[in-house]
Amino acid sequence: TVAELQAYFDAVIEADQKIEPRDWMPDPYRKTLIRQIAQHAHSEIIGMQPEGNWISRAPSLKRKAILLAKVQDEAGHGLYLYAAAETLGVTREELVDLLLEGRQKYSSIFNYPTLSWADVGAIGWLVDGAAIVNQVPLCRCSYGPYARAMIRICKEESFHQRQGYEILHVLAHGTPAQRAMAQDALDRWWYPSLAMFGPPDTDSTNSERSMAWKIKRFSNDELRQRFVDMCVQQVEVLGLQLPDPHLRWNEQRQAYDFTPPDYAELMRVISGDGPCNRQRMENRRRAHSEGAWVREAAAAYAAKRTAADRT
Ligand code: 3HC
Repeated sequence: TVAELQAYFDAVIEADQKIEPRDWMPDPYRKTLIRQIAQHAHSEIIGMQPEGNWISRAPSLKRKAILLAKVQDEAGHGLYLYAAAETLGVTREELVDLLLEGRQKYSSIFNYPTLSWADVGAIGWLVDGAAIVNQVPLCRCSYGPYARAMIRICKEESFHQRQGYEILHVLAHGTPAQRAMAQDALDRWWYPSLAMFGPPDTDSTNSERSMAWKIKRFSNDELRQRFVDMCVQQVEVLGLQLPDPHLRWNEQRQAYDFTPPDYAELMRVISGDGPCNRQRMENRRRAHSEGAWVREAAAAYAAKRTAADRT
């Protein structure tokens, strides 16, 4: 009976075991996973644009090769995640259509412009750093395919974060103009990176259920705090300043007190009113239609191969 299936599902979750694609699962659990994994995948794909903007203008062949590898990784992360979402009974085509029609979201962070080369460093250090803080717990998510996709993604994110941090370290210890460029990028990317973790727990509509299902293992505010505490140590080594005059160690909380991001701005960016939302979606729609011939050729080739295998 459904009651027995539900009881079995609850016991698997309770025991910190994994739900696999062929297991029975409550519809709302399936829907929440499709929503989160699809939007995670969309974020990876859209996230290629801000950095891709600097591939042709990287300051050296070495930086160009590293950035190319990183942007290529992001495409791969998108594919792993679409593949994980497909185990829940949706197709990648359906999910891409939902993105292109503006009916599914992608991360707010990718709606900000990359104005200088230092932004590539700030994105690696802060955005990929925030992604790691958010994604390491997802390796213990209750849905098997998502948790397993995260393990490889987190390994690659560590390279992304390290290369960004190194870019900023070189600039911060370079000429005064380079140092100023690094500080300017940090000033512009700090608060949007804090906002990446989502609205405050009090406004987080999905957290309670996602945490009960052990999809989300820590709340938005817990992970945001963990990220701030980590960055305060790292920014000292860079010799730069976090743009928050209220940042201070709270002995009692054993954590840093900090100025929260502008959540009204986050809501505006999420609803499409960020600095680059229109451009990101125009680029994505154009790339999708210009790439139709590649999809058709791949499908025709696959059909030919299948027919040949049958003879
Ligand atoms: N950008 C866009 N939408 C956001 C958001 C953000 N930064 N933060 C929250 N939202 C949306 C949520 O999707 C939700 O809307 P929905 O119900 O229509 O999906 C609404 O705001 C309320 O937020 P909740 O806290 O209730 O939503 P969640 O419980 O889903 O938590 C989340 C939001 C923490 C982003 C969670 O979805 C999550 O952990 N997702 C997986 C990680 C992810 O998607 N990261 C995006 C960045 S990917 C990346 O950084 C790539 C790297 O290579 C650089």
